[in-house]
Amino acid sequence: MPSPFARALRDQHRDERDAPLRVHGDDECREHPVEAFYFGDPTGGDAFPWIESWLDGPLLDVGAGVGRDARYFQAQFETVAVEVSDALVETMRDRGVDDARRGDLFALPETLPADRFRSVLIRGTQLGLAGSTDRLRGTLADLDVVTRADATAVVDGYDPAHPGTADLIGYRDDPRDGLARRTIRFEYAGERGDPLEFLLFGPDRLRAAASDAGWTVAAVDAPSTADTGYYRAALRRGQSGSPQ
Ligand SMILES: C[S@@+](CC[C@H](N)C(=O)[O-])C[C@H]1O[C@@H](n2cnc3c(N)ncnc32)[C@H](O)[C@@H]1O
Repeated sequence: MPSPFARALRDQHRDERDAPLRVHGDDECREHPVEAFYFGDPTGGDAFPWIESWLDGPLLDVGAGVGRDARYFQAQFETVAVEVSDALVETMRDRGVDDARRGDLFALPETLPADRFRSVLIRGTQLGLAGSTDRLRGTLADLDVVTRADATAVVDGYDPAHPGTADLIGYRDDPRDGLARRTIRFEYAGERGDPLEFLLFGPDRLRAAASDAGWTVAAVDAPSTADTGYYRAALRRGQSGSPQ
């Protein structure tokens, strides 16, 4: 049985969504804007030119959702879209994603060939599901395995140092500098999914994990309009100062 999140997106695609997708925190609940978030024009908004400028093919889009970005990028260069949810892999194929595969962000080398990709996109804050700084570092180190020596990656997250981040639904403080937590559950059509436990990490924490994993944070982009502490980071393989 697909998760409530995946069912809601699949039903939206089929024009069969008959209930809101709800996001629950501890004692708060909000309705998720499914269509606006996942089915809009990927090039809309001021974020996209920045994201695109860091990517090249072959591209690996991990946690690709319903393929909003993969559909755009596959017209530019080879794109492989990976999802943990079978229902979303099927939905991506239905929406015309040429290479949609089931895979796990936290076990990429198990299903993907080594030295294959020139860039990686992890967009939607799912990297936070790493849950710990150790696993964040390990996940970035795994990206090393499946990418080429000159690879780049674009990832995103919420900066706990930003005052707006504490207003996120499901937010929890963490005593460690630059870290926080977030626990949410999705509910759709009478079914509530398992809790999703996120580690929120700021750019400095990402820099430290990336450096340990053989990557450098080359740029950080925080939309001036974001009131949540949302930011994107572009990573390059290799340590700064070393030959690329
Ligand atoms: C917030 S959505 C973002 C979707 C897409 N990247 C976008 O921006 O429209 C996060 C996606 O990550 C997927 N995901 C969560 N955990 C994953 C994992 N371990 N491996 C692969 N995908 C995962 C979810 O199924 C979901 O579709």
